[in-house]
Amino acid sequence: MENEYKTALVTGASSGIGRAVAKQLASAGYRLVLVARREERLQALVKEFEPKTRCHILTCDLRESEAVRCALDGLPPDFRTIDVLVNNAGLAAGTEPAQNAEWNDWEEMISTNCMGLSNITHALLPGMVERNRGHVINIGSVAGTYAYRGGNAYGATKAFVEHFARGLKADLLGTAVRVSTIAPGMVGDCEFSLVRYRGDAEKAEAVYTDLEPLDPSAIAECVAWCVSRPAHVNILHMEVMATCQAPGGLSVSKTA
Ligand SMILES: NC(=O)c1ccc[n+]([C@@H]2O[C@H](COP(=O)([O-])OP(=O)(O)OC[C@H]3O[C@@H](n4cnc5c(N)ncnc54)[C@H](OP(=O)(O)O)[C@@H]3O)[C@@H](O)[C@H]2O)c1
Repeated sequence: MENEYKTALVTGASSGIGRAVAKQLASAGYRLVLVARREERLQALVKEFEPKTRCHILTCDLRESEAVRCALDGLPPDFRTIDVLVNNAGLAAGTEPAQNAEWNDWEEMISTNCMGLSNITHALLPGMVERNRGHVINIGSVAGTYAYRGGNAYGATKAFVEHFARGLKADLLGTAVRVSTIAPGMVGDCEFSLVRYRGDAEKAEAVYTDLEPLDPSAIAECVAWCVSRPAHVNILHMEVMATCQAPGGLSVSKTA
């Protein structure tokens, strides 16, 4: 295996893109730490992977910084050296225009997509630098670059993810630690829309009718490709859209 990476930690491994990333890294020979709140989902994944892939489950809410740090401190010795951190856990909540948005939705997105991601990165980055080995991969979104109606706080959290990675890259200059952000467009076969529409399955499914979105495996392949580049190659940003999607143009409101 290239780069001597052995152990990967994947957040949000219980569903969608995170689960696909875990599968891809398992087949590439990684030992895995799987993180999410729904333990039974992670257990099912472990059953799928073992005995070929060694796994450890961390059931925690990434918004709870102390709990996350305790969980990381309690990792068994074999799983303590994290070489690849895949910051995937995240969500969009609501599609209302900013002026009608629920504060709780903004709070949940900011505390998960920004604070949760920062928290685990802050905990694991010093070890990577000390060992002079590691790769932080963030799952951003095209929403972090292209604004769309109803994307307000979600897009802003993903712009944070993108720029945070660029800041890390600047700080990590001179070390062998690499940083990548993969920014997907529309991905199906995830719970993303169901969460965004607060459990309304009809609305969630309607998003994907009459079109072919990306599969989670397409993003997982990008992750696997980034980590398997030779050690001197750092893919900083990848934007991946379904062929049926494109960034919208600017809008103008004319007076009647
Ligand atoms: N699907 C898309 O169209 C799309 C497009 C661009 C970017 N993305 C990004 O891709 C990432 C993965 O989303 P997905 O599409 O795969 O959605 P998903 O199927 O809903 O998966 C989200 C994952 O995040 C975990 N998670 C959410 N909040 C968490 C918390 N507080 N603590 C721990 N884990 C938490 C969930 O696990 P538990 O609920 O078990 O905790 C789940 O495993 C997100 O960052 C999303 O913004 C998705």
